[in-house]
Amino acid sequence: MSALFTPVTLRSLEIPNRVWMSPMCMYSAAPEGPETGAPTDFHLAHLAARAAGGAGLVMAEATGVRPDGRISPWDLGLWNDRQQQAFARVTSAIREYGAVPAIQLAHAGRKASTDKPWLGDRYLPEPEGGWRTVGPTAEPFPGLPAPRALTAAEIGELVRDFADSARRALAAGFEVVEVHGAHGYLINSFLSPATNDRTDAYGGSFENRLRFPLEVVDAVREVWPDHLPVFFRTSATDWLTENPADARQGWTGDDTVRLAKELQARGVDLLDVSTGGMVPDAEIPVEPGYQVPFAAQVRDATGLATGAVGLITEARQAEQIVASGQADAVLLGRELLRDPYWPQHAATELGADPRWPEQYGYAVRRRR
Ligand code: FNR
Repeated sequence: MSALFTPVTLRSLEIPNRVWMSPMCMYSAAPEGPETGAPTDFHLAHLAARAAGGAGLVMAEATGVRPDGRISPWDLGLWNDRQQQAFARVTSAIREYGAVPAIQLAHAGRKASTDKPWLGDRYLPEPEGGWRTVGPTAEPFPGLPAPRALTAAEIGELVRDFADSARRALAAGFEVVEVHGAHGYLINSFLSPATNDRTDAYGGSFENRLRFPLEVVDAVREVWPDHLPVFFRTSATDWLTENPADARQGWTGDDTVRLAKELQARGVDLLDVSTGGMVPDAEIPVEPGYQVPFAAQVRDATGLATGAVGLITEARQAEQIVASGQADAVLLGRELLRDPYWPQHAATELGADPRWPEQYGYAVRRRR
């Protein structure tokens, strides 16, 4: 029996299998006008296709909790009624094909206001539709302009913005909300000693660096119903201190275990374990499944459920990660862009039942 295709229950939510779609920005929303940030027909087709492809959970991309929290002007957002209505269409399509609809809520912080990556990833200045960015301090991400350091009052507003977007996500039909605390974006940049030397209650010591991220989690958990799970995506390491050749102070796997305990105590149900993104020049030993040991470390040390992500491309590799107890689920990114039907093929390869939509199932089983 396949572990990968065994359902998992978090709180009262049963997720039909453990192959999930990782959040991926598509840079395909309107950048201005009444439809700004609302999912389009592209998003509907893109996310529904992965549900029909058999993913147990489909996570919508990093979605800005406010306009300046988008990575680019073409990102999704969830701060108004129009966006909420458009998301409701997406969640019902995902559910129609048997997957759980999930959304990642985000603020891009000092890495915001950039161009579409296929146009070069550069900072987009205000005359071209960009904006002045914000961060824990005025220290820029190398290659981007200096952000404005957030005031404590603005941090309080941001906490409310995350809660408001979570409330809208629930109303739009999402069953899982994930707080984006990874990849050098705003929440992650508060956590890391490499980027947060604020001198107030939100920076400096380990406890202070966790304060804003944990306030966001508390606020989101408060509006998210008890019967539904909350996820947190983290960068388990900046790949600085982890690498003996790099003397810079960074966030480590051990820090992640400490964070995981705090998140667990606050009702987070799964840690989605990624890495990196804090500095552009970290040496990352990229190879198949290279981030999986961090998910395993958290799961072992805390008992918190984990998701493993990053260069997971083979059915047997994914099966082994879940069957060996390194993670409770795998999240696939690029492999699901290459092949939306990856989960159906993996189920067949592992001797489990593929979950074809009824419109396809009877036909694909026929040989002639
Ligand atoms: C990403 N990734 C990403 N991560 C995230 O937390 N929020 C996001 O919105 C995005 N956006 C995004 C867009 C695109 C086009 C790619 C390829 C990636 C990272 C992604 O979720 C995943 O963690 C990585 O791609 C590693 O997994 P794979 O692709 O090796 O399976």
